[in-house]
Amino acid sequence: MPIPAAVRQPRDSLVITRPDDWHLHLRDGAALAAVLPHTARQFARAVVMPNLKPPVTTTALALAYRDRILGALPDELRGRFEPLMTLYLTDNTPPDEIKRAREAGIRALKLYPAGATTNSDAGVTDIRRVHATLDAMQREGLLLLVHGEVTTPEVDVFDREAVFIEEVFEPLRADFPALRIVFEHITTREAVEYVATSGPLVGATITAHHLLHNRNALFQGGLRPHMYCLPVLKGESHRQALVSAATSGSSKFFLGTDSAPHAAHLKEHAAACAGCYTALSAIELYAQAFDNAGALDKLEGFASHHGADFYGLARNTGQVTLKRQPWQLPEALAFGDAELKPLGAGETLAWRLQG
Ligand code: DOR
Ligand code: ZN
Repeated sequence: MPIPAAVRQPRDSLVITRPDDWHLHLRDGAALAAVLPHTARQFARAVVMPNLKPPVTTTALALAYRDRILGALPDELRGRFEPLMTLYLTDNTPPDEIKRAREAGIRALKLYPAGATTNSDAGVTDIRRVHATLDAMQREGLLLLVHGEVTTPEVDVFDREAVFIEEVFEPLRADFPALRIVFEHITTREAVEYVATSGPLVGATITAHHLLHNRNALFQGGLRPHMYCLPVLKGESHRQALVSAATSGSSKFFLGTDSAPHAAHLKEHAAACAGCYTALSAIELYAQAFDNAGALDKLEGFASHHGADFYGLARNTGQVTLKRQPWQLPEALAFGDAELKPLGAGETLAWRLQG
């Protein structure tokens, strides 16, 4: 029997609830002003990472940062975007900061193992040092957002996430069974399996770049610093596990871009900074990944429902429309006095957000 045309034809438009970004780097000052409109145009809310220099370690600093973000919104996006603020967990975060944070509307603390990534020097040196603070978070209902990589120099860079699960995540969950934890920007099959089998209090964000690329992209025709992020891209079987998780419909997996802008001259450098800038075309990149997997019908849950449900927040009510419409990403964007190169600069994307 011939296949009906409606089934054969690829869909060329998609309407979904306005999405949220559950993991974002916005920086500060001129950089913030340059990147914020890209996110606010697409997303209703974003969880803003606290790894500024110096880091956002107190409620007072987070509220001041929130004001700067709101102040940097262009007029046409004012009132349309809500930054969700986080604190940077250090060895010295006092337990009584947690109640203050909750009362101020702060939802989460970010755990950076000291030295794991960009601006993580003030991170936690040993999880046992923050037990009293984690206890307060569990009591107050604040989420723990985890950069899940060990920093032990002997551990291979590509194995750091899998080792983190055994060495840190497992004991952490045993000690704090009621703590709500997001395993951020997961990159491995091991992390997918761990989250999937960990009960309702453990969720994970997945980036667009980890869905679209494997580690070959780092070496395609030469060393590609704009593909370098942390946790670093992994092998193809890991990418496939991430795609399966994201498109599975499981409410444990949700959108977090980890869009992380760095000036182009610091990426194209002997010691290139880690971070991919994806905010310019974030929802389009995810649409591409879901389309490649034949799972566009699963994009809305992943991008617009699962994260809000996990955080215990209301889902957004507005909608956005994506159309199959080729558009070329610019080679570079202004970034204060410097330039910013979006991931895939100069390439053509198949999907475009309307409006
Ligand atoms: O690639 C990354 N860039 N990974 C992180 O964890 C931090 C981020 C940044 O802030 O640049
Ligand atoms: Zn990040």
